[in-house]
Amino acid sequence: MDRVRKALDLARMERTHSVVKPVPEPAAAADVEEEPPSKATVASILYTRTKVFTPQPGHLERNRIMNPASSDPAAAAYRMLRTQVLQRLDAHGWRSLAIFSPGTDDGKTTTAINLAVSLASDRLHTVLLVDFDFRRPTLADRLGLTAEFGSDDAITGRAPLEECLYHPEGFDRLVVLPARSTLGNSSEILAGPQSRQLVAELRARYPERVIIYDLPPVLYADDALSFAPLVECGLMVASEGRTRRNDLVRTLELLSKTPIVGTVLNRASDAPTGY
Ligand SMILES: Nc1ncnc2c1ncn2[C@@H]1O[C@H](COP(=O)(O)OP(=O)(O)O)[C@@H](O)[C@H]1O
Ligand SMILES: [Mg+2]
Repeated sequence: MDRVRKALDLARMERTHSVVKPVPEPAAAADVEEEPPSKATVASILYTRTKVFTPQPGHLERNRIMNPASSDPAAAAYRMLRTQVLQRLDAHGWRSLAIFSPGTDDGKTTTAINLAVSLASDRLHTVLLVDFDFRRPTLADRLGLTAEFGSDDAITGRAPLEECLYHPEGFDRLVVLPARSTLGNSSEILAGPQSRQLVAELRARYPERVIIYDLPPVLYADDALSFAPLVECGLMVASEGRTRRNDLVRTLELLSKTPIVGTVLNRASDAPTGY
């Protein structure tokens, strides 16, 4: 058995979280089903000050962002992940979720975006996707967004929050708070009052909204650990063939105080079987 799977099994035994696997290498083209207009939706939002941008389908596809309605196995895996995450959030009344992984390039940002998109495609849910990876912010690029202001501005007080929010056209119920640039003292900031204040402001603004935080790797710097106490739960991403067993175990140990609602095995070689 693969070492990552062994570690995940161990984690599963030790903590009551589930493994959603695998997220396969995405297929080339995604089937697109148009969503009917969302008129009788519970979660309708007026984007009064939120800036609207238009993501390009080709750019999203190249960046492994799935159309949530696609019949592609990866999109199906994200829908499964969405359902499992929601069940756990609802069971505990949680609304904030951080994306964790041991190392760089494990697939945190990919997972954060696809989970957010998948959650928001469900009419009952509104989602805020936040880039708090001040070491290597990539959320805006992955979405094809050139942000004038971002979470780095909001957290340091350079711009009011409402100037930093963006809505991707065509993705109803999804709002993004990208990071525009790196921050030198990011772990200090994430552990400090500025971060607490921004998290509280985000929560207060839309109490029912699911808020997903994209973070740097847990073992790379102390940013993710510093921030962990401010979220209600986390989602673990491991990368098959990359994540070392010991690193995953260490990461789970370091986050022992944060409930982990599930684990995503990214880059898994075996695609889910359909019927
Ligand atoms: N399942 C996958 N198969 C192939 N490439 C992937 C997969 N998941 C992510 N990638 C690519 O790997 C790179 C790192 O992914 P990313 O989500 O940014 O990782 P992290 O946020 O953990 O550093 C990106 O270029 C992304 O497109
Ligand atoms: Mg990332």
